[in-house]
Parts: sequence; structure tokens; C-alpha cells
Amino acid sequence: MAPSNLRSRANVTANNQHDSPKSSTEKPSSASKLTADEDEGPSRLFVVDILRVLAGLILLSITLSYFITGNSITWGYRPAFTRPARIKAWLRGPLNLTDAQLSLYNGTDPNLPILLAVNGTIYDVSAAPHYYGPGGMYGFFSGRDATRAFVTGCFDTDLNGDLRGVEEMFMSEDLSSGAEFTREEKRERKLRKERERRLAKKQVEETVRGWERMFDGGKDGKYFKVGKVWRGEGSGWEGWGEVKELCEKARAGRPGRTAEEVA
Ligand code: HEM
Repeated sequence: MAPSNLRSRANVTANNQHDSPKSSTEKPSSASKLTADEDEGPSRLFVVDILRVLAGLILLSITLSYFITGNSITWGYRPAFTRPARIKAWLRGPLNLTDAQLSLYNGTDPNLPILLAVNGTIYDVSAAPHYYGPGGMYGFFSGRDATRAFVTGCFDTDLNGDLRGVEEMFMSEDLSSGAEFTREEKRERKLRKERERRLAKKQVEETVRGWERMFDGGKDGKYFKVGKVWRGEGSGWEGWGEVKELCEKARAGRPGRTAEEVA
């Protein structure tokens, strides 16, 4: 559009120069007006064409989205400002709850949102009561920080946030007990184990991060972050106690290695 505008202005200027001398109040001749209009015509058409194509594409996207998703014209995306629960949480500001306070938000009180925590961060999961409400498929996650169970999958024994030692589930089990090793072999085994532990810890972090991503607006944005579990002084927080054994299910999933494989 810009080059043709320039051209039409140039024509008008050229015509004015040929017709000179003329007073500044004199209207442009009909010939020069015609040239300007002819030049603007195609560019205006071009813009209208673009708008038509855009409108067509938007309409196509809306139709496809509606038929594919079954209920959404925006492919399931809903901006935060269209979600009342989010606006309410935003107006309220971040929550800082102790573990005891968090336990009240387990879905049993219909006046409270359903909350759960992953790695000390609290998320609102009220949008899925069929998962997190009472009797829901994953209702045991609500009202607590059960990060350990999110990693191990042991929903009966690991509903807590203690990640100490959990990396062992990604480390191979040493099946070489009783075998004799030289000093050099023992040193190498120790180094290998340390390396393996570092990698296993990364895997735990990745797994936890995956859940955090899901609860922090991932998937279709129905869950969102609302605050932190407060474990400061005076919160009644006494730590996780003794380091726990890896639960049965997580132990069973560990890869085993014989003395030959380890060495
Ligand atoms: C570490 C182990 C596991 C954890 C922590 C876990 C956790 C979860 C969570 C939190 C959800 C709800 C997702 C949401 O809010 O949208 C979910 C959904 C689901 N899980 Fe699991 N799960 C695990 C293992 C399994 C296994 C082994 C199975 C199958 C045998 C399974 C089957 C399902 C199914 C069918 C859904 C519903 C999926 C959907 O409708 O989108 N889960 N899981």
C-alpha cells in the first residue's frame, strides 16, 4: 500500500507542477484526481482481499475447533480473565498455608476451593472435582503436599512431600551382595554409584517439574498456582522425620544389575 500511495502523491505533485502557476486554493484538475483514484483502487481492493481471507481462516478455525473439541471454539484455550475462580484468587492474593491449614481444602467443604501442593507450591484444582474431590480418582492428593507419591506412585504409603532417598527408584539395584571386590573395584563402584545418584536425582526433579507444569496452567489451563505451603518458624512444621524406605512398588520397578554389570 505504501509504494502506491507514494506513487499517487508523486503524480499529484507532478500534475500540480505542470499546471503551475496556480493559486494554492485551486482544486486539482479532474484528470489528476482520476489518476490518484486509479492508483488507490487496487491497493484498497488488496486490503479488502486480505481481510476476507483472514475472516475465512478464522471462521474455518472456529468450525474445526468446535467439531474436533466438541465444545470449544478456541481449541480449548480460555484466557484467565474468563475464569471467575482465577479472578477471585488473583484478587485475594497469594495464600500461605501450613500443612494443617491446607488439609481443610480437600474438597469436603463445598465453600472452599480444592487445593493440593507439589513441592511446597499450592495449586487450585477445583476445576476437576471428579479427580480431586471426595471419592475422586485422585482425591487423596487434595489438601496435602504428596510430592513423594507423585513420583513413586505409592498412593497408600507416600502421601507426603518427603523426597529424600526417592531417587533410588531410578537407580539400579545392586544384586552383587556377597561378591568379593578389590580395592580398586570398590572405588570404581563407589564413583559409579555417586554418578548414578546424581542422574537419578535429576530424573526425580524432572518428574516433579512435569507435575508442576501440569498444575501451573498446563494442559488446558484449568488449574493454577495459588500460593505456598508455609513451613517457617511457628508453623508447626517439624520436618519429615527419619528417611523413609523406598515403597514396595517403587522398589519393584528398580532395574537390577549383577556383579558383572556393575563392575
Ligand atoms: C506415578 C504414578 C501416577 C500418578 C502420580 C498419577 C497421577 C494422575 C493424576 C494427578 C491424574 C489427573 C490428571 C488431571 O488432573 O488432569 C491422572 C489421570 C489419570 N491416570 Fe494416573 N497417575 C499415575 C499412574 C497411573 C497409572 C499406572 C494408570 C493406569 C494404569 C493411570 C491412569 C490414569 C488415567 C486413566 C487418568 C485419566 C486421564 C484423563 O482423563 O486425562 N495413572 N493420573
